[in-house]
Amino acid sequence: MFFRGRRLRTSAVLRDMVQETRLATQNLIMPYFVTETDDPGFEKPISSMPGQSQYSLDKLEARVAQAVDAGLTSCLLFGIPASKDPAGSGAYAENGIVQQAVRRLKQRFPTLFVVTDVCLCEYTSHGHCGLVTPSGRVQNDATLPLLADVALSHVRAGADMVAPSDMMDGRVAAIRDALDDNGFKELPIMAYSVKYASSFYGPFREAAESAPQFGDRKTYQMNPANRLEGLREAQADVDEGADIIMVKPAGPYLDLIRDLRNTFDVPVAAYQVSGEYSMIKAAAGNGWLDETQAVLESLIGIRRAGADLILTYFTEDILHKRLL
Ligand code: PBG
Repeated sequence: MFFRGRRLRTSAVLRDMVQETRLATQNLIMPYFVTETDDPGFEKPISSMPGQSQYSLDKLEARVAQAVDAGLTSCLLFGIPASKDPAGSGAYAENGIVQQAVRRLKQRFPTLFVVTDVCLCEYTSHGHCGLVTPSGRVQNDATLPLLADVALSHVRAGADMVAPSDMMDGRVAAIRDALDDNGFKELPIMAYSVKYASSFYGPFREAAESAPQFGDRKTYQMNPANRLEGLREAQADVDEGADIIMVKPAGPYLDLIRDLRNTFDVPVAAYQVSGEYSMIKAAAGNGWLDETQAVLESLIGIRRAGADLILTYFTEDILHKRLL
């Protein structure tokens, strides 16, 4: 006698019946890049992310309209401001590009769940996620009120959830306080809790024009070799009031997704980042693998590891091709 695992694989119906994990469109969040420009109809393809572009407000609205028609339920917004300064003031301007985009999308698609990325790096002239001293050190505590202002300005514009991605210590508490004090006690925070200093953000930095002008992000983003530290980061964010905790990137850090799922009782999100997207696109573009199968396999793997929500640039494609 030996184990006959093949018995449960004999037909498609049976395989489907005993499938342990599923992917649904409701699990997916589509990231978009919106540019501050006077050019109506502006669309700038991102060369390192085939199929993704920066959009002007009107183009974004048109693009989202198609996706909503195909079943999109949630998106994440990144802004590219017309000008940058050392304090990243475009990030918390009442009429900043993300604030405008949120107002526009929520007006046209009231039920679309709009999440905003809360960070300074796309808005600072130095490209870092916090304020920088003259000697080039990224300041933690001085940055917190600015991040709270960013979050509050997004929420005042109508954002349904804010997602701080800066990796300053204490930012979830600072944002929670600011929201609570201003009448937004019920507005959820999805924290980029376990965020690594990853080479897989490379294409994003072209997309969001947010590459650091000097140094790197290793004093605030995590060392890819560390796992226990990820648990401490997640614990801190849960204690400070994060409603959803995120692991980023996803594919190379499936163990952390599982750790968080086993350790915490809040929803866990995972971000399949730009480099993960571009790798599949590049290989598929060369005919080296089947894109659809690779996309679905990469995402079911992230679900199997324990993620409830997945942020992925493949969301639109999956919807338009009716893959789920
Ligand atoms: C901003 C931010 C980054 C990403 C999401 N928010 C870039 C970074 O930290 O350098 C990466 C997303 C991606 O690569 O798709 N801090």
